[in-house]
Amino acid sequence: MEGEVAACISLSSSTHPTTPQNHRKPGKTIMPFGIVSAWNKRRRSKSQDHSDPWVYKPVEFWQLEDQTPQSTKRRLGSSVFTLKEMEEATCSFNEKNLVGKGGFGRVYRGVLRSGEVVAIKKMELPTFKEAEGEREFRVEVDILSRLEHPNLVSLIGYCADGKHRFLVYEYLQHGNLQDHLNGFGKAKMEWPLRLKVALGAARGLAYLHSSSDVGIPIVHRDFKSTNILLNANFEAKISDFGLAKLMPEGQEIFVTARVLGTFGYFDPEYTSTGKLTLQSDVYAFGVVLLELLTGRRAVDLNQGPSDQNLVLQVRHILNDRKKLRKVIDPELSRSSFTLESIAMFANLASRCIRIESSERPSMAECVKELQTIIYTNSKPMGMGMGMMSFKMA
Ligand SMILES: Nc1ncnc2c1ncn2[C@@H]1O[C@H](COP(=O)(O)OP(=O)(O)OP(=O)(O)O)[C@@H](O)[C@H]1O
Ligand SMILES: [Mg+2]
Repeated sequence: MEGEVAACISLSSSTHPTTPQNHRKPGKTIMPFGIVSAWNKRRRSKSQDHSDPWVYKPVEFWQLEDQTPQSTKRRLGSSVFTLKEMEEATCSFNEKNLVGKGGFGRVYRGVLRSGEVVAIKKMELPTFKEAEGEREFRVEVDILSRLEHPNLVSLIGYCADGKHRFLVYEYLQHGNLQDHLNGFGKAKMEWPLRLKVALGAARGLAYLHSSSDVGIPIVHRDFKSTNILLNANFEAKISDFGLAKLMPEGQEIFVTARVLGTFGYFDPEYTSTGKLTLQSDVYAFGVVLLELLTGRRAVDLNQGPSDQNLVLQVRHILNDRKKLRKVIDPELSRSSFTLESIAMFANLASRCIRIESSERPSMAECVKELQTIIYTNSKPMGMGMGMMSFKMA
């Protein structure tokens, strides 16, 4: 037993040079005393074996060789949890704790032994998709544990126990933006709040593109309204970095044969040529702006064939003030917006979704414009940012 404990201690100190003890709440422990996970045992017995995909390897060994020049930035650190801790936190993955489901698996609300409330994402993939899921898991941990920004979701830790994979995040009370826009029994968002969410998301993307902390600009590649999570104050936090791509200096374009992302948000230049740029995120950001403006989904298969794609549906009227009125989300109270701010917002969206990526604004420019739009909207009405009304489910 002594040997087991020693192994836990040496693993946590060697693989996590900047542990959560350095920046998270005091009293939070990593690799709690006495816990010996299956991967930990295997790690000792096959410490040189980096070929078996199911043997957990410390982040240092994760070969993101096709995209990662060594970063000199500190790793913020993330806790390592056992399967038992994940079960305890979620009452054995009780359905009552289920908060959502996505392509990677189910997401549960959980409470850690420290009392911290978290969101636990459990990898549940068919066998043929496991390798892909494993890669996304590693990219998520590797990138997110090195980033810190008020508009990015915080990764608290992960669990890699045998074949089990879990990601543990800060819990965001108001879930994802899309559910709010579609009014799934939630608070309906008024225009000032939508502007605040747009600005927060723009700041998060601008930070990713600016190379801060990691030292290399990052393309998110899966920016969309379900990956914008909202905290108790409706501050936007970008999530899901599994498809993110580091773009080293001088490599503003990455060419790939496999196009990854989500329908409705794909940059047409990326899909037609395989050329991925920071501007691909700007396109997806433009689509989210359209969702905020219209309250419609990026792709809605319940609509007629010509109305299923939001961009195709509204692109041609975004700079036509008369026609624009017709697509404003009818759920918005007329008193919450000025037509001037709507016109400016629609114009920004129209530039973000330009076919030519070089004609789109940068995220830093989007941040500045949104600040101006917020000012324009608040000036005549003197309203606060937190305006919202409640829609009955
Ligand atoms: N940190 C979190 N706090 C609160 N709820 C969360 C958190 N992370 C995810 N969720 C909820 O779980 C849902 C599923 O998330 P997930 O990222 O797995 O899928 P998705 O983004 O909806 O879809 P996709 O897998 O296609 O990207 C989210 O839409 C959100 O409502
Ligand atoms: Mg998501």
